[in-house]
Amino acid sequence: MAGIVSVDSKLPGVGTTIFSTMTALAQECGAINLSQGFPDFDPPAALVAALGEAASAGHNQYPPLAGLPQLRAQLAAQLARYRGVTVDPEAELTVVPGATEGLYCAITAVVRPGDEVIVLDPAYDSYEPAVTLAGGRTVHVPLTPENFAIDWDRVRAAITPRTRLFMLNSPHNPCGSTVNGEDLATLAELAERHDFLVCSDEVYEHLVFDGAAHQSVLQHPALRARSFAHYSFGKTFSVTGWKTGYCVAPPALTKELRKVHQFVAFVAVTPVQHALAAFLEAHPDYPGTLAAAYQARRDRFLGALAGSRFRFRPAAGAYFQLLDYGAVSDEPDTVLCERWTREHGVASVPVSVFQAEPPPGQTLLRFCFAKSDEVLEEAAKRLCAI
Ligand SMILES: Cc1ncc(COP(=O)(O)O)c(C=O)c1O
Repeated sequence: MAGIVSVDSKLPGVGTTIFSTMTALAQECGAINLSQGFPDFDPPAALVAALGEAASAGHNQYPPLAGLPQLRAQLAAQLARYRGVTVDPEAELTVVPGATEGLYCAITAVVRPGDEVIVLDPAYDSYEPAVTLAGGRTVHVPLTPENFAIDWDRVRAAITPRTRLFMLNSPHNPCGSTVNGEDLATLAELAERHDFLVCSDEVYEHLVFDGAAHQSVLQHPALRARSFAHYSFGKTFSVTGWKTGYCVAPPALTKELRKVHQFVAFVAVTPVQHALAAFLEAHPDYPGTLAAAYQARRDRFLGALAGSRFRFRPAAGAYFQLLDYGAVSDEPDTVLCERWTREHGVASVPVSVFQAEPPPGQTLLRFCFAKSDEVLEEAAKRLCAI
């Protein structure tokens, strides 16, 4: 009989993502699931209808590697409209099966064994495994604990001649913080001086609140010349399960990204691309309606938490709200998060899982507010009772 094969894992520290784990626990306990980042409301009806129409019309075979030309043209128009930038859809824009795949392709296209990649902690969990698989080393630099801003002194101290790539994420998951123009100017100066590239995760670009504007690397000429910028239709159109996004980068970087994309996924799903192109053509202003709608959800959730013992700073962007439970408990966030899902029926995500070295005594949980009013109010009621 053949023996059991043992594998020397290339990703020994990686388990099932916290999002899947907490969603499964929420389902098991019948808890309200504010853990995973997905809306509990429907996408625009016209978009769903367009998907059915595309499949029925026979758009079911492989599309071009870089994405349907009509979708890329619509995306270039969106970038001109919302960011004021001109992008060549032929040479600079690639439709991908989810931002996760775009991020993976960008990272593995440019990181070589021994290269260093700066990641700001807390960080979205897909970056480091991609760096590791490319043979690179992730250099973790913590965001400031008070307001999750970039600590540029610590970034400067982390840069070495081996620094190849800088991972930026704004609006930020899990912290809901955003970068400002000064941050981008500092990053541009450092990237040029030390000749590293930037991978900018902007999947929540349309969710920036309180009258502020999203700051994209595409709007900063020096960064535009050395960045991959990643976007997700899942976030913008409430279709996370459609797993489709796009990446914008200068031609030389796009060429390298497409070489990897060609052999990781090759293309993104055809009828989905047709549906998105048709929807964007008919409703180009839809993304501009999102900030007000999500800000109202944030405010509803926080308003309902006013009498609770949690401390919070309203999220500036994305659809996550951090709550500090320091006045309630000093238990570790991983323990508490599971216990409260079981005992109080509200699932969240512990922030420490996004950090290489969580600061001692940190008491933060992340709650997704991309949920309907009734769900947010019931969750807040349960949290107020803690
Ligand atoms: C910061 C961030 N980047 C990337 C992604 C992945 O996006 P997609 O579902 O398009 O792969 C997510 C999804 O939650 C995210 O929060």
